[in-house]
Amino acid sequence: MRILRTASNLNQAVRRARAGGARIGFVPTMGYLHDGHLALVRAAREECDLVVASIFVNPLQFAAGEDLAKYPRDLPRDHRLLRKADVDLLFEPENFYPEGFATRVSVERLGERLCGRYRPGHFVGVSTVVTKLLAAAEPDRLYLGRKDYQQAMILTRMVADLNLPVRVVICPTVREADGLAMSSRNVYLTPEERAWAPNFYRALRATALLIESGEVRGAGEATAEVERRLLGSPMRLQYAEALTADDLAPIDPLTGDLVLAAAVFLGKARLIDNVAVRAPRPPRPGKKNDRGRRV
Ligand code: PAF
Repeated sequence: MRILRTASNLNQAVRRARAGGARIGFVPTMGYLHDGHLALVRAAREECDLVVASIFVNPLQFAAGEDLAKYPRDLPRDHRLLRKADVDLLFEPENFYPEGFATRVSVERLGERLCGRYRPGHFVGVSTVVTKLLAAAEPDRLYLGRKDYQQAMILTRMVADLNLPVRVVICPTVREADGLAMSSRNVYLTPEERAWAPNFYRALRATALLIESGEVRGAGEATAEVERRLLGSPMRLQYAEALTADDLAPIDPLTGDLVLAAAVFLGKARLIDNVAVRAPRPPRPGKKNDRGRRV
């Protein structure tokens, strides 16, 4: 695994590989890797000839007062894991935002709900850094995790809107055996908080089932149901919303393909998770029989 620190060195390396006919897969990360990241690398390894990963704790996507300074880091361990996963090139950019850097990439609407409401500037930071990373890595495929569902939808929109020549591949959320979605930030949990944490996913799943069975129909009811299921735990709900799966638009009553996404605070950790939901669709008007009656 070669480690590259400038966009131009990375760009030269991938162009050389592409000239030889290689398909290039790219996995962007902020490091402190877990099995969720490694599943993205595995997917890239299976589908591509050259696998590029990046590690960059992107200051642009942290709002003031967030955990930029104490975001967990362990580069020697990350290098070991990526070598073992057979990554070809690792990009660890230095001076990625030089003096005078003034450009921002902003995807409207999709970034305004869910986390966007509580993390000002976060998704602009994500879209900006991913645009820069894509410009350097010029991959054929970009691998993202479904765990960060809003991020995946925003980046998919950005790639389409800007005609970026890359296919976005969204891989399933990787969970611990008890259901907790893997996240670098899970390290902030104390053993006691860690024991409570799976209740978050359970609350989302249980609410999703109630929506699917038609028992919960209203958007507000869905939020209240998640909240109710977390009562008595040390988790504090920041938001829970059922939105349309593709464009994250509010919908009430709940119908069609949805995502139920939520964020909670648990001790020093802020956890996010989401589940897909198929809410019942309103019955379609039946066909007319030959007497003109609906059947
Ligand atoms: O999901 C992440 O780790 C980050 O948001 C990403 C996509 C690497 C951009 O910094």
